[in-house]
Amino acid sequence: MKEIEVRNIPELPYYVTEALNQLRISLGFAGENVKSIMITSSIPDEGKSFVTMQLWKMIAEVGNNVVLIDGDLRNSAMREDFGLKMEGELNGIVHALAGKCRFDDAMYSTNIQNAYLMPVEIHVGNPVNLLEGRLFRELLDVCRKEFDYVLVDSPPLGAVADALNIGPKTDGCLLVVRSAFTPRKQVENSINLLQRSGVPIIGTVLNRADTSKKGAYYYNKYYHYGDYKE
Ligand SMILES: Nc1ncnc2c1ncn2[C@@H]1O[C@H](COP(=O)(O)OP(=O)(O)O)[C@@H](O)[C@H]1O
Ligand SMILES: [Mg+2]
Repeated sequence: MKEIEVRNIPELPYYVTEALNQLRISLGFAGENVKSIMITSSIPDEGKSFVTMQLWKMIAEVGNNVVLIDGDLRNSAMREDFGLKMEGELNGIVHALAGKCRFDDAMYSTNIQNAYLMPVEIHVGNPVNLLEGRLFRELLDVCRKEFDYVLVDSPPLGAVADALNIGPKTDGCLLVVRSAFTPRKQVENSINLLQRSGVPIIGTVLNRADTSKKGAYYYNKYYHYGDYKE
C-alpha cells in the first residue's frame, strides 16, 4: 500500500483535545454496530473536515484501525488544509467509484499509525452517479469489515444532495453545528432531511463555541449525545 504524508496536523489547545477525546469515547459507547460514520453539517465552513480529521487521528492514536473516506467529491479542501503530500499519478475515491482502479489502489496508509485515507484525487462536478452507484455501497461494506471505524467526510446538507446519498449507506452521522454561525432554521432543516432519509443522528458537535468572555478561539464541544433517534 502506498503512503500519503499528512503534513499539517495542528496542535490543539488542551480543552479542544479534551472535547474531541470525549467525542471519541462517546462514539465507542454508541454500540458495536456503529462503525461507519458520516460527518456532515448544514452549510460550508462549519468544521466538518476539521472534526473528521481530528477524530480520525485520535481514534488511530488509541490503537484502532480507522479509514477516512473523503466524500466531498465536488469541493474537497483536504489536500491543502491537511497538507497532504499527493504527487504524481494518483488514484483516489473518484477512480475507485468509477471502476477505474481497485479499492486497494485508492487507499493509502499515512504517517499516522493505524490511520488510512481514501482521498479525493480530482474534483467532480456532479458526483451523484458515483455516490448512488453500486461501488460506493460496496466500498463502505468492505471498509466496515476491514476497519474498526470508517469516517466519511461529506459536503454540507444545505447545498447538494450528496450527503443524503452517503448517509443511508453508513451506520449514522455526526451533525456538526458551528456556534453563532449557522442559522437555527438551517440546523432544523438538516435534522429533518436526515430523519426523512433514514440517517440516524448519532450525535451533534457544537463547534467553535465561544465559552469565555475572553474570546477563546478554539473550542469544540460535544453535546446532545443520542438525542435524535429515528
Ligand atoms: N474548532 C475549530 N477551531 C479552529 N478552527 C477551526 C475549527 N473548526 C474548523 N476550523 C477551521 O475553519 C475552517 C473551515 O473548517 P472546515 O473543517 O474546512 O469546514 P467544512 O468542512 O465544514 O466546510 C478551516 O480552516 C478549519 O481549520
Ligand atoms: Mg469540508
